[in-house]
Amino acid sequence: MISCCIFDLDGVIVNTAKYHYLAWVELAHKLGFEFTPEQGEAIKGVSRMASLDIVLRAGGMQDKFSDEEKLALASEKNTRYRQYIAQMTSDEVLPGVRDFLMKLREAGIVVVLGSASKNAGMILDHCDLRPLFDGVIDGNLVSRAKPDPEVFAKGAELMHIAPKECVVFEDAAAGIEAATRAGMRSVGLGGSPLLCKATMQLPSFVGFTLDALKEGVDR
Ligand code: BG6
Ligand code: MG
Repeated sequence: MISCCIFDLDGVIVNTAKYHYLAWVELAHKLGFEFTPEQGEAIKGVSRMASLDIVLRAGGMQDKFSDEEKLALASEKNTRYRQYIAQMTSDEVLPGVRDFLMKLREAGIVVVLGSASKNAGMILDHCDLRPLFDGVIDGNLVSRAKPDPEVFAKGAELMHIAPKECVVFEDAAAGIEAATRAGMRSVGLGGSPLLCKATMQLPSFVGFTLDALKEGVDR
């Protein structure tokens, strides 16, 4: 039985990974080194401060800054990132997502956002997505990053739904692990072999139906 679907944001609902990457690249350039797209793969799904550590390591600067300086660097990146997402519109919602969310709602399934980002609310508003979610758990409400199950467990708790009746949609391996640890089934978005532990994999939401979801996860 499926009573609730919990969606990651970055890489599932919208492609904000490109803005995170650009903002980190700008910081790296300011510090005098390159941050390549290949290195950028490692920051997907990772918290802001953990991403900063990955970026600094890429430039051999992991030991150069105090905690206070690191907070200032992360804040600088965040200011730049927010300038990018302030330009987002509903055109940037990934193909098929809006239709699928509407189908779930019509079927009476509860729709929740479960994101590590502290900027999730701003993105939902800019992309006109807020009315499609019954509940939102974002980076402001959790203290432990995926693969810790906290974000999804809190989503289920908020809606008073048992984990076994929840399905998580994720594009990162850490998110699939978090779902499994929360006692939930999962759908891995995109074709990455890293998502092989998901209950089912899905290339994109285009043409995806509730029946196909049930068939894929109710086994
Ligand atoms: C996740 C992204 O959703 O949110 C990560 O995949 C990002 O790349 C993390 O670092 C934290 O985001 P924010 O907006 O709080 O810096
Ligand atoms: Mg993601």
